[in-house]
Amino acid sequence: MQSIEIDLSIEDSIKQALKNNNATLVAHYYVSSDLQKLAEDSGGIVSDSLEMARFGQNSDADTIVVAGVKFMGETAKILSPEKRVLVLDDQANCSLDLSCPINEFSAFCDQNPDHVVVVYANTSAEVKARADWVVTSGSALKVVQKLHSEGRKVLWAPDKHLGHYVQSQTGIEMLMWDGACIVHEEFKAEGLKSLMKINPNAGVLVHPESPKEVIALADVVGSTTQLIDAAASRTEDMFIVATDNGIFHKMKQIAPNKKFIEAPTMGEGATCQSCAHCQWMAMNSLEKCLEALNTGKNEVHINRSIIEKAQHSIHRLLEFTK
Ligand code: 13P
Ligand code: SF4
Repeated sequence: MQSIEIDLSIEDSIKQALKNNNATLVAHYYVSSDLQKLAEDSGGIVSDSLEMARFGQNSDADTIVVAGVKFMGETAKILSPEKRVLVLDDQANCSLDLSCPINEFSAFCDQNPDHVVVVYANTSAEVKARADWVVTSGSALKVVQKLHSEGRKVLWAPDKHLGHYVQSQTGIEMLMWDGACIVHEEFKAEGLKSLMKINPNAGVLVHPESPKEVIALADVVGSTTQLIDAAASRTEDMFIVATDNGIFHKMKQIAPNKKFIEAPTMGEGATCQSCAHCQWMAMNSLEKCLEALNTGKNEVHINRSIIEKAQHSIHRLLEFTK
């Protein structure tokens, strides 16, 4: 009998490969629309970094395919050590993770043994293992307040802008690491003020990895998920958004009649290293997704003792946010 070859689209080929591997695709809000759409169409999820890992952990899949950056793949592996975790590109990193190498960070912690070590999710598995707590931008304020109320001094890493935001909101002084996100650091307050003048009815949504002058102009400061929720629930029909523009896919999906404008990254001192889009998130693609599934390349491997220690600091957050 003659067999008929059918040319599948790349999306259908990935869906087939996901099924064949009993795999699930989890994508971050910052990756391209085609990957976000595929994650949802194939029964996976599009979410923030913590929810991506939580979804992978709770799913029946044997393999978690992570469309995002290195620390997201590692967090998924830490929460699901028995599962295979694949990332689409093993060079897709994060400036916050890169700014906080384990040896220097560990020495900093050793010099301050009376401080409880709180790190942002955007860090390596080794840094998470050295920490007492892992937090996300959505949970940082509450965790730091809780630790302060228990009389603890806090060492914070790696994002200085998020750290300063937490300090400004809580009045709690923290010992701080000097890291930053190259995408959010480029948003410009003067340019934003001009854009707000032209669009006086627009709501302003800002991720707390942005500089304090930009945060000061915000109607809502929050994590990716909190900004998306605000876009849906607030009454404005137009928003200026200071975070990676990949988030517009979900914002438009959830609030199709509203208009979203990028906050400016140009102006005095602008380098436009990113122009509101993370260069590492942009390394994810449908082609790499199919290749990872077909070849098993870019599997995340983490030393067992690092996993166990990092689980401890992540579980504290999961318990706290339950
Ligand atoms: P979320 O954890 O809020 O999704 O943020 C991740 C990130 O990389 C922000 O730049
Ligand atoms: Fe890291 Fe910034 Fe990219 Fe998020 S947007 S992954 S914090 S470099």
